[in-house]
Order: sequence, then C-alpha cells, then structure tokens
Amino acid sequence: MPTHKLLLLPGDGIGPEVMAEVERLVSWLNARGGVTFNVETDLVGGCAYDAHGQAISDETMKRALDADAVMLGAVGGPKWDGVAYDVRPEAGLLRLRKDMALFANLRPAICYPALADASSLKREIVDGLDLMIVRELTGGVYFGEPKEIVTLENGQKRAVDTQIYTTGEIERIATVAFELARKRNNKVASSEKRNVMRSGVLWHDTVAALHKREYSDVELTHILADNCAMQLVRAPKQFDVIVTDNLFGDMLSDEAAMLTGSLGMLPSASLGAADASGKRKALYEPVHGSAPDIAGQGIANPIAMLASFAMALRYSFDLGREADMVEQAIADVLDKGLRTGDIMQEGMTQVATTGMGEAIIAAMEAQAA
Ligand code: IPM
Ligand code: MN
Repeated sequence: MPTHKLLLLPGDGIGPEVMAEVERLVSWLNARGGVTFNVETDLVGGCAYDAHGQAISDETMKRALDADAVMLGAVGGPKWDGVAYDVRPEAGLLRLRKDMALFANLRPAICYPALADASSLKREIVDGLDLMIVRELTGGVYFGEPKEIVTLENGQKRAVDTQIYTTGEIERIATVAFELARKRNNKVASSEKRNVMRSGVLWHDTVAALHKREYSDVELTHILADNCAMQLVRAPKQFDVIVTDNLFGDMLSDEAAMLTGSLGMLPSASLGAADASGKRKALYEPVHGSAPDIAGQGIANPIAMLASFAMALRYSFDLGREADMVEQAIADVLDKGLRTGDIMQEGMTQVATTGMGEAIIAAMEAQAA
C-alpha cells in the first residue's frame, strides 16, 4: 500500500481550525484503505516565533523538504505586528517557498454555480467561471536584492525593493502555464507592465519567444497588468490561464478569488521543478489569510483548505479520483444549501467549520456508497 508523508503546518489565526478539517479527511481516507498518509504537524508563522523566536525553525524546514507534500493553513496576525521584519510570521512562508524552490503557484478561481449570487458581481458575469492564475513565486520584487531601508545624509530614509527576473525564471513559469493551458481551454494571457518596467519588457519578449518556439498551438495574448485587473471584473470568463509575476500574481489572485463569492473558497498549489522521477516539491495552502477577526470562533470556511488538499491529492499523490471526490463533495454540500458565515445567503443553512467539514465527508461517503 502506498505511504505518503504529509507535513501539516496549520500556522496562525483560523489556520488550525481549517487544518483540523484536513486531518478529519485524512483520517477518513486512511480508514478507507488503499493509501496511507503519515501525518506530522509542526509550527510556522507567529506560533513558531512564540515557540522559538523564528518564523520557521531549521528543523521544521528540514521536515518540509523531506515531506511528499506540505499543507499550510495561514500565517500572521496583529499579535505579531511589532516583531522584527526578519522573523515576522510571513517570513516563515516565504522561506518555505524559497528553500523548497516552489516557483510555480497555481491559483484556480472556480465559481460554483450555487455561489454565483454570493459574488459581488452579477451572476451572468461569474457563473461558470473557471480560470487559473499561474503566479511566479520565488522571484521578482519579493526576493530581489537590494531590499532595504537606508538613512540618507539629509536624515530622510529611502526604501528599496528590487524587481528582478531572468529569462530562465520567466521561461520555466511560462512553460507551466502553456502546459496547463493545453489540458484546459488552450489559452494563455501573459500579464506584465512592459510599458513602464524593463522586467516587463523581458517578460513579454521571453514569453513570446517561448510561445513561438514550442507552444504556437496555444492561443497567447499579452495584457498589461492594470488592464488585466480591469478585465477580471469586466469579463472574467474571457480568461483561461493567466501567467504573471510574483507581485502582480498576488494582487490579481485576490481579485480573482473574490469573483467567486468568497476568499474562503480558493485553494492553491505551489510546485517546484520535477526531479528525475517526475516528483515535485509541493506546498498547498488556501489563498485566504489567517483572518484574525474571526479566529478561535470555529466559524471559518474550511473549503479553500480542503480544496487545497484535493490539489495535493491530484498533483502530489496522483490520486485524481479522490481529488474529484473531494471537489464533487464540496459542490454537493453547497448545492444542498450548507454555508459558512462568509458565504451565507438567505434561505440557506449556516454551519460552523466542523459542520462543513463533516458534511463534506458525509457527501464523500454518499459518493463511495
Ligand atoms: C499570499 C499571501 C502572501 C504573499 C503573504 C502572506 C506573504 O498574501 O500567499 O498571497 O504575499 O504572497
Ligand atoms: Mn496574497
């Protein structure tokens, strides 16, 4: 029986609450047989800082590198607003991405028909939406050096962040986007700011050249990032795959997530390069954050976290059937009218985090029966 090593990093805020629903699902899958997940749990973010003064310890980092997949809840919160920049909660997540070389961040935005009315946009604009944002995750202004605040002779301060991309970095993320598009609707929109940034010019030219060389069967458009933001709210269904850099991807994916009704619905996968045996380092996390305003109340929406686990089943464990089951179960409970507070609508039944998790497993049981 295949055994998979899974590292859970629940993190801060609602992270532990939504991760508990992953644990429930993993136990269910383990009990069902056919596959075994060996689960370890560790600290990242503010809780890791509280425990050992670092947003992630070297030991946890080693465990992450050793795991077949890492599930991450969320990091950060007002409690750690004052901690030093290098050890702020987000530094733990950024180190995981960097040290695991997770350059490809896949952020699907799917609008479940049952939730089309929960979107801030009109139903007809979002109903049936299915797009994928492919965000570069280990380069750009997030990691470029210099990155500093210096004091000038006149007493003023000057802050510098550096946007850097090499052709190699652009090519490997564009390759992921083109390959994904071939399995979807065969369209890629590449988004940058070539009208203002040199990195945008190189991004554009590199994606165009790769397209011409290897992917001319895929329909490619180039779109300025500001226009892309506008088009996402005007007519999001024109998009299939959007490939973009680290910072634009951060913003465009929050925007795309909200189209679907709630930030609480959107999963993500962060993948490294395939090794000789085809295996990739991988981390899965919801797009939403730690939501300190509702943490500890047991009311958070666990769907993004569970859908992230479905992505792990699909991309890390080759368990596509089980991934389909989870996704179908999510659609089923939404069809039945179950809602957490963030997606609550009139006439629906409001449930807590555990209620939603239990209902999703019950829906999987119903499918299996
Ligand atoms: C995300 C988050 C992170 C990011 C933060 C927590 C560092 O917003 O995953 O989108 O900016 O990448
Ligand atoms: Mn973000």
